[in-house]
Amino acid sequence: MARVLLLALAATLAAQASSKALPVLAPVTKDAATSLYTIPFHDGANLVLDVAGPLVWSTCDGGQRPPPAEITCSSPTCLLANAYPAPGCPAPSCGSDRHDKPCTAYPSNPVTGACAAGSLFRARLVANITDGNRPVSAVTVGVLAACAPTKLLASLPRGSTGVAGLAGSGLALPAQVASAQKVSHRFLLCLPTGGAGVAILGGGPLPWPQFTQSMAYTPLVAKQGSPAHYVSGTSIRVEDTRVPVPDRALATGGVMLSTRLPYVLLRRDVYRPFVDAFAKALAAQHANGALAARGVNPVAPFGLCYDAKTLGNNLGGYSVPNVVLALDGGGEWAMTGKNSMVDVKPGTACVAFVEMEAGDGGAPAVILGGAQMEDFVLDFDMEKKRLGFIRLPHFTGCGNLNF
Ligand SMILES: *[C@@H]1O[C@H](CO)[C@@H](O)[C@H](O)[C@H]1NC(C)=O
Repeated sequence: MARVLLLALAATLAAQASSKALPVLAPVTKDAATSLYTIPFHDGANLVLDVAGPLVWSTCDGGQRPPPAEITCSSPTCLLANAYPAPGCPAPSCGSDRHDKPCTAYPSNPVTGACAAGSLFRARLVANITDGNRPVSAVTVGVLAACAPTKLLASLPRGSTGVAGLAGSGLALPAQVASAQKVSHRFLLCLPTGGAGVAILGGGPLPWPQFTQSMAYTPLVAKQGSPAHYVSGTSIRVEDTRVPVPDRALATGGVMLSTRLPYVLLRRDVYRPFVDAFAKALAAQHANGALAARGVNPVAPFGLCYDAKTLGNNLGGYSVPNVVLALDGGGEWAMTGKNSMVDVKPGTACVAFVEMEAGDGGAPAVILGGAQMEDFVLDFDMEKKRLGFIRLPHFTGCGNLNF
């Protein structure tokens, strides 16, 4: 009898242990020169975070290990690696003659768009697992990465050896960590303005319940042919005034999230009414007693720039009109001056919204960039297909949270 009980107890404990697989924490740093974000990979090398990237890739000279033999070009893993060919990269093909040749992937540089052919190799992500309060222990997660030539690192931060794609696809980092560590296909992201940020791969236990419990959620939407995370916008307001965009303009193409650029791209039909509304709302602040913002010659790629001395400041950055993007599900992504303005040179600040080049009908209506996500806690939950978001209070930043 006692023996049976003990066995039952042991089974229960084992079940609890496996249901409590802990998420993997990676500190996030913003590179001042490029405004890109990196996480440590291993041995002092960093990977650039690309929230829309479908692969993990790295230079593989030194520490390179041969691809696992089972990954042939017709294997399911190879199909996953090539599920989202980047624009302008060669179309992956096995050729018709030999289906047992090794898999070739096509890693692409998110900044330059360059790509290269490379084999898959087993790489290591060295990080910590976390109980939501503190790092518990070090962990080495084996990940399949595409091997890239050094020249593919052009325009990426010094010290980085590749890119960690955070898209929802099968060989992006969240899916690989989920399967290796038996954690959820989900990650939390807090991108820093300076200082420290964090990526937590694998969902709960969630740190910062005071923030995560009051998150707004909006459905994550998949878009044919794109690995990126999209959500659906319903309207844009500048202060209390709705920007007059054509009916369904926001729903068409959706809202994409990108860490490739530090500012927002707006499709042409959205950009023009937006900048008009922003300039008007800023001028109206003067009527209410604020300084008169003095417009200056725009600095490319921005279309609306101001003499920074004539813009007030508050805890949310420059005191400019709030921009609110209303999302499907009722949540509102509110941007203060911290998220809506960039200093382009001493004394000149520009509205960080840029008109998309050649935005065709299929282009996203809005692409949110790094500056719009900074100091938000974002919960990319690919299992529940939803994105949670909440802005941190102005007195704190990602680095002040315990994790
Ligand atoms: C893991 O946590 C320890 C203790 O907080 C820290 O010193 C170390 O840098 C962390 N390692 C990584 C790879 O983040």
